[in-house]
Amino acid sequence: MVVERIRTGIPGLDEIMHGGIPKNQIILLAGTSGTGKTTICTQYCYQGAKLYNENAVFLSLEEPAEFIKNNAKLFGWDFKELEKKGKVAFIKYDPYRIEDVFDILDSKIREIKAKRVVVDSVSALGLYVRDEAELRSMIFNLSTTLRKLNCTALLVSEIVPGTRGISRYGVEEFVVDGVVVLHYERLQASFIRAIHVWKLRGSSHSEKLHPYLITPRGIEISSNEEAVVGDMNYV
Ligand SMILES: Nc1ncnc2c1ncn2[C@@H]1O[C@H](COP(=O)(O)OP(=O)(O)OP(=O)(O)O)[C@@H](O)[C@H]1O
Ligand SMILES: [Mg+2]
Repeated sequence: MVVERIRTGIPGLDEIMHGGIPKNQIILLAGTSGTGKTTICTQYCYQGAKLYNENAVFLSLEEPAEFIKNNAKLFGWDFKELEKKGKVAFIKYDPYRIEDVFDILDSKIREIKAKRVVVDSVSALGLYVRDEAELRSMIFNLSTTLRKLNCTALLVSEIVPGTRGISRYGVEEFVVDGVVVLHYERLQASFIRAIHVWKLRGSSHSEKLHPYLITPRGIEISSNEEAVVGDMNYV
């Protein structure tokens, strides 16, 4: 059986995932600060609506939606029209209503018939919920909701430099279907960016570490090149 896939529209990413994200899967996008996680999420939503006519919901728990949209404009992605037409929706960050935010996400997905969803980031949930058991069940319930609604989703996970593992609470990688890791690593006197697909359920994928750039047109991954980095201490 051929796996149906959602093309991210991000140059090189579909190639290293051997055609795109298998439909209805949840992917954890993990990386240290500044690796381009938010940029990938924004590009995924924009290209989905523009190139593939797939609506998207972006839930931001870190930056206000206006910041994300303003940054997106620098890459040439203007969400104004897409929002007006109900093709993309941003859910505003509201720290007092964290319990309600998943209900809002649920109804927004149904309202605009979103196929793509982004949550940036699940690590930020820890700012609002102190109890780790509660956090874990929140992340688990979130993934259940996304599966039920047949979405193909990116969940962002912040890696703390110097720590081991790719998630803050130790559950994120188990509730998702795939994991993509972004690296920003020192190589002699400079730093380079590299990406690799850690797991992808029901699909083959590149096993290599690939260099990528954040260009004025967004993220560009060199799917035919291998990145050379020093020691990577967290995975
Ligand atoms: N217009 C641009 N052109 C080129 N590079 C850019 C541009 N805007 C941002 N960058 C690069 O992208 C990086 C930030 O990307 P982004 O915000 O997507 O990362 P992030 O992983 O979400 O970070 P955080 O952990 O802080 O949320 C910047 O540090 C910069 O190097
Ligand atoms: Mg970010």
